[in-house]
Amino acid sequence: MRRCSVLLLGFVLAVLCRAEFAPPTVNISLDEEPEVRWAPLLTVFDKDYLRKAGAEIIDATVPKWVHHAVAPIVAALEKYVPQPYAGEIRGMASNMGGSLADTIMLNFAYEVSAFCTSIIAQDKNGNVYHGRNLDYPHSVLRNMTVDIIFLKKGKVAYRGTSFAGYVGLWTGQSPNKFTVSGDQRGSEHWWNYWKNVVSAFLLRRSPVSWLVREALEEAQDFEEAVMRLSKIPIITGVYYIVGGVRAGEGVVITRDREGPADIWPLDPVNGGWFRVETNFDHWLPPPARDHRRDAANKALNATGQEHINMDTLYQVLSVHPVCNGITVYTTTMSAATPEKYKTLVRPQGCSKAD
Ligand SMILES: *[C@@H]1O[C@H](CO)[C@@H](O)[C@H](O)[C@H]1NC(C)=O
Ligand SMILES: *[C@@H]1O[C@H](CO)[C@@H](O)[C@H](O)[C@H]1NC(C)=O
Ligand SMILES: *[C@@H]1O[C@H](CO)[C@@H](O)[C@H](O)[C@H]1NC(C)=O
Repeated sequence: MRRCSVLLLGFVLAVLCRAEFAPPTVNISLDEEPEVRWAPLLTVFDKDYLRKAGAEIIDATVPKWVHHAVAPIVAALEKYVPQPYAGEIRGMASNMGGSLADTIMLNFAYEVSAFCTSIIAQDKNGNVYHGRNLDYPHSVLRNMTVDIIFLKKGKVAYRGTSFAGYVGLWTGQSPNKFTVSGDQRGSEHWWNYWKNVVSAFLLRRSPVSWLVREALEEAQDFEEAVMRLSKIPIITGVYYIVGGVRAGEGVVITRDREGPADIWPLDPVNGGWFRVETNFDHWLPPPARDHRRDAANKALNATGQEHINMDTLYQVLSVHPVCNGITVYTTTMSAATPEKYKTLVRPQGCSKAD
């Protein structure tokens, strides 16, 4: 309340105080060539805004001198980027009038420094719910958040939530099959990170958010999704949280670059009706300053298995500091009821206003 009253001093600033809003939804047809399939983004986003926002994120994520040093290397990497991503990124750069190197860098900038909370939970009837907060310290992303429906032959193949300009997915749903979210694991120094990017392409490793998209595209069911997300080599460690359509189908996969470090499934019979993953290995205590895991566990305990559903899960994801000053959006989903997929962009300063 305090925050709102301060902001109400000016009409323009008061806009920041508004409640959650649904991001735009865009249909992307996979039957179109990769270079042109993302063009519909420009029906809902302003090209100049996207270009400026992208530049701001690159500036904040990659120090200027590194940017200059890395740009030619990144541009040369284009020949190592697999399809359809190479084509999609090339198309995105030309749609938005940005440089190819910047667009590639932007696609990798999002692969680091995403702090998140993912929750998988099962109610007394065996329904599985999956929710996630995506935290990222760039407020421009609130205006770049987009729900994307990927179509094949006019039918929904899968969907997800992303940022305009980014071809990977951190959040997605394959209808009536599974849902998946990714949370960053560890905080690598940027130099190691960029080094990994380079070696990854030479070794043909997948960025973590591309593997999410591949799983959504290829996996026929929960089990196959878990197998792919566990085993396929990736650029950097990550947590993949996967929910299915049947009771017991829920898991947190802790990933090393080469394969799984740990698999932590739901265990409803023994009281494990939910799993909370933030950005730390679940078998270790989180850092003393980070209270998100504990707050989420408490809120879920207080909710109880008999009352968990999409709405109460959203409420848990709204509790401070699970939802905090850098939370960009919240998605709640359940693969068995794909039409209920819902994303809301959080107002800046979720922590205080709610
Ligand atoms: C987001 O867009 C709104 C309306 O277009 C604008 O007023 C606001 O400044 C933008 N926010 C950021 C952080 O760029
Ligand atoms: C997106 O595609 C779906 C499925 O074909 C269709 O029902 C919907 O109207 C489309 N939305 C837009 C904005 O084109
Ligand atoms: C939640 O409840 C479980 C089972 O009763 C208990 O073991 C756990 O400590 C509780 N967690 C929190 C954070 O209160």
